[in-house]
Amino acid sequence: MADRTVRLNIERQDNPTSKPYREEFELRWRPGMNIISALMDIAMDPIDRHGKQTMPITYDSNCLEEVCGSCAMRINGRGAMACSSLIDKLEQPIRLEPLSRFPVVRDLAVDRSVLFENLKQVKAWVPVDGTYDLGAGPRIDPAVQEQAYPLSRCISCCLCMEVCPQFTEPTRFVGAAIINQVRLFNLHPTGAHLRQERLTAMMSDGGIHECSYAGNCVQICPKNIPLTTSISIVYGQVMKQAIGDLFQKPELTSARKEPGKR
Ligand code: SF4
Ligand code: SF4
Ligand code: FES
Repeated sequence: MADRTVRLNIERQDNPTSKPYREEFELRWRPGMNIISALMDIAMDPIDRHGKQTMPITYDSNCLEEVCGSCAMRINGRGAMACSSLIDKLEQPIRLEPLSRFPVVRDLAVDRSVLFENLKQVKAWVPVDGTYDLGAGPRIDPAVQEQAYPLSRCISCCLCMEVCPQFTEPTRFVGAAIINQVRLFNLHPTGAHLRQERLTAMMSDGGIHECSYAGNCVQICPKNIPLTTSISIVYGQVMKQAIGDLFQKPELTSARKEPGKR
């Protein structure tokens, strides 16, 4: 019986501005192969299906166990993690393309720095005062821990942004992963010190109002994060703060009118 083979049709791009093109590869099948192991096989012997010598495919990966989030790409037209996508479960020839909503760096590697810029925008961290010993942190109620843990599983893969109809240049929408981080850090007793600033960021350009609640994000998230629940909860927090701000404005106005103050 002839050896089993694996066929891959890969979209390639030599640099961020050049035109994409396709190459086909035929590899020897091995049990348990996934997309990353197939790409590694190509790197060891980069010869295309027609026998032409070519270059190894450029892609991002690190942990190889769906933890680092770096290997997200389109596999047979759908965003997925390459390290956990088993060859045997995919229809052949397997089509590989870079994520479509992020600038291509080369081949299957894309620039996802927008995610980190958006995380900075909402101050998605627990603030600390310095590098000296701050002592024990505040105790976190087990009920809060239970709520926070599923939210903390985000691996920054950006698949929720890839499938979001609102994640576009004109809306500048931050995306579901960012809103989920707002909920997570607002739950933390120290993180909550920045709650007001986070919610204010959620009300500005690209904020939570851009979400059309289509729900694509929650369906694709590889970590099953309850993204639409996070969006609803953060929306409630934003509304509460907006109403609070409305009632505080007259006081601010009168404070500005105090003698000697401008
Ligand atoms: S619910 Fe829809 S619009 Fe909102 S973040 Fe998710 S995919 Fe985007
Ligand atoms: S929320 Fe889910 S889909 Fe979005 S970046 Fe995090 S792990 Fe990926
Ligand atoms: S290599 Fe880390 S998630 Fe795939």
